Formats: sequence, C-alpha cells, structure tokens
Amino acid sequence: MFPAALRIGPYTASLPVVQGGMGVGISLSGLASAVANEGGVGVIATAGIGMNEPDMYKDFLEANKRALRREIQRAREKTKGLIGVNILVPLSNYADMARTAIEEKVEVIFSGAALPLNLPAFLDGSTHTKLVPIVSSARAARILIRKWLDKHHYRPDAIVVEGPKAGGHLGFKEDEISDPAFALEALLEPVLREAEAGATQDGPIPVIAAGGIYTGEDMYKVMAMGASGVQIATRFVTTHECDAAQGFKQAYIDAAPEDMVIIKSPIGLPGRAIRNRFTQGVEAGERTPVKCPYHCIVTCDGQNSPYCIALALMNAAKARLNLGFAFAGANAYMAEKMESVKDVVRSLREGYAAASDQARGLSIG
Ligand SMILES: Cc1cc2nc3c(=O)[nH]c(=O)nc-3n(C[C@H](O)[C@H](O)[C@H](O)COP(=O)(O)O)c2cc1C
Repeated sequence: MFPAALRIGPYTASLPVVQGGMGVGISLSGLASAVANEGGVGVIATAGIGMNEPDMYKDFLEANKRALRREIQRAREKTKGLIGVNILVPLSNYADMARTAIEEKVEVIFSGAALPLNLPAFLDGSTHTKLVPIVSSARAARILIRKWLDKHHYRPDAIVVEGPKAGGHLGFKEDEISDPAFALEALLEPVLREAEAGATQDGPIPVIAAGGIYTGEDMYKVMAMGASGVQIATRFVTTHECDAAQGFKQAYIDAAPEDMVIIKSPIGLPGRAIRNRFTQGVEAGERTPVKCPYHCIVTCDGQNSPYCIALALMNAAKARLNLGFAFAGANAYMAEKMESVKDVVRSLREGYAAASDQARGLSIG
C-alpha cells in the first residue's frame, strides 16, 4: 500500500500518481480516464490537440478549443475520477486552452516548459480548478511561489518537480542532463524546502516528483524522501488505453538503451526521443521545408528550423515514423510488452510494497 493519498487542494487521489500529460495525440481522454479510474489523476495534454479537426489549418484556435472540450467531456463519460489538463507555457493558444479547461471544470491544470507566471489570472473567480506548476529547479519553485502570492494572492496547489530523465522537452541545458547535480533525487530535496517555506496551516505545498519513475521501487525512493506523489508518463505509453497509434507504442517496445537520444528541438529546448531514421537525418543536416500556418509555439523559429516539430510529432502519434519521431523518457527502452493501465498500477503497487518492506526489514535488522 502507498503511505497516503495525494491531496491537491480539496481533491484526493487514492493512487498518488499523476499521469504526465503527453502532447500531440498521446494522452487524451482514453489514457486519462483509465488512470483516473484507478484512483490517479488522468491528464489530457493540450499541445496539438486539434490535430484531427477538419479546420485545424483554417481555424487553429477554434479547432483546438473544440477538441479540448470534446476530450474533457469524453473523459467525463468514462470516469468519475480526477481529470487534469496539461498546458505548455509557450503554446501560442495558452489563454484559450486555460480558459476552456477552467470552463469545463477540470480538477487540475498542470503547466510547465517555462514559468506559468500568469496562470492564476485565468481562474477569474472560479474555484473548481486547482493549479500545479511544473518546475525543474528549486529556484524556479521559489520564484513562482513568490510571484503567484505577490501578484495573484494564490498559492500553488501542488508543485511537480521534473528531473532530466523525463520525456519530451526538458527544462535543462544539454550538459546538465547527465550531470548528477541535476538528477531528480538532487532536485527534490531543495524543492521540498521551498514547499515547506510556502506552508500554510494546511501544511506544506505537496510536491510531485517526475522524470524516470518507471517502477514501484522508483516511486518508493522519491516518496521516502518526502514527495507526496509521482508523475509518470513513459510507463503509460505502452498501455492499451494510451491514445497513440500502435506503431508509436511499438517504437517503445523495440527501443534499446542506446536508442534514447537528446535532440535539439526547434522550440529552443533539448528533448528526449527515440532515435530513428528521421532524427538521424536531422542530425546529418537534412531539412524538411517548413510551412507554418499557425505558429503554435511562441518560441519556435519555424522558418529557420530544419523541420516542423508539431508535424513531426503528429506523424509519430499516427505511427508514420518515417516522417517524425517519438518523444520518450529515458526509461522507455524498459517496455517489453503491451499492458493495461490496471496491470501497470498493480505492478507499481507491488514494487512499492516490496521496496517498502525491504527498507523496513533493513532498518529493523
Ligand atoms: C511522448 C511524451 C510527450 C510529452 N508531452 C508533454 C507535454 O505536452 N507537456 C508537458 O508538460 N510534458 C510533456 N511530457 C513530459 C511528461 O508529462 C512527464 O512529466 C515526463 O515524461 C515524466 O517522466 P517519465 O516519462 O519518465 O515518466 C511528455 C513526455 C512524453 C514521453
């Protein structure tokens, strides 16, 4: 058994697991509702959510709002559990996505890839939706807590600290990614201190650890250090319920440790992906002409990029891996077979219990 449920404001996740948002078609209502049904927080990612709408190119803003609304409603039809939405700060339709999620009364918004300094402004009196920033350092946590309190009189309802083993875009410089000083275990302690400093009578701000948590043993390690829960993404990709096409999931099952690579994303951050013909082509200097109809990421220099990241990720989600690549966490190569979300949760519980029994045995004996 896990030591305690994860509290985020008034909400209680009996399974202290947040399913990490995975953009461009990987975590939608299917995966989110399955995780919520197990007692965790299921998260729909907003990045590229309108990719299958017929008017995506003609009316980018409307297509994305409609798709987000529909995915939240679909998730609600499948679960009574907790549903969150993940919104990357550099999205050019950030305000639209935040307002839509709040109108649809999701329980939690998770937001990172830069500091979501203005997120509380979108609540506009609503109290249903709770706000959780994603940070990669104690300094970022400190700045964010201070700015939210000063400007919005709002305290984060929890904080996700994401280490460099995460998948997708990473909040680290390339040389920091393999530096032990930036490992999740090294980041967690100072972030916990910031969360303690931001305590009220309800206690410290809950801290959720992310990046490379794959087994119950991994969960035990960070929760024994003081994390209130974990955010897990990569482990959930190879589930039947994950919303990506089977070929995307198969790329995880087929990957070997040496296939996990760091790419330079056109949006100006490093990212972790599974090496394939497309990533090797980019590395070798190949360019795919970029048409940029909607400039979806504020920091993306589309015209000077060797390829369009949104298009590459959309192709990957649809298993057209010759025209794109799969983002993945450092442990993606560990996947050996397809599972159900229930199987994954059972294995997390068993691994956690074994690690906790072992630690207790060691401390007694
Ligand atoms: C395929 C993929 C897509 C991702 N997309 C997003 C995203 O849109 N927004 C975000 O904040 N994080 C994104 N992430 C990061 C995850 O939400 C999560 O925090 C991280 O991957 C945790 O590490 P893990 O994958 O080792 O569990 C993505 C990760 C993966 C693997």
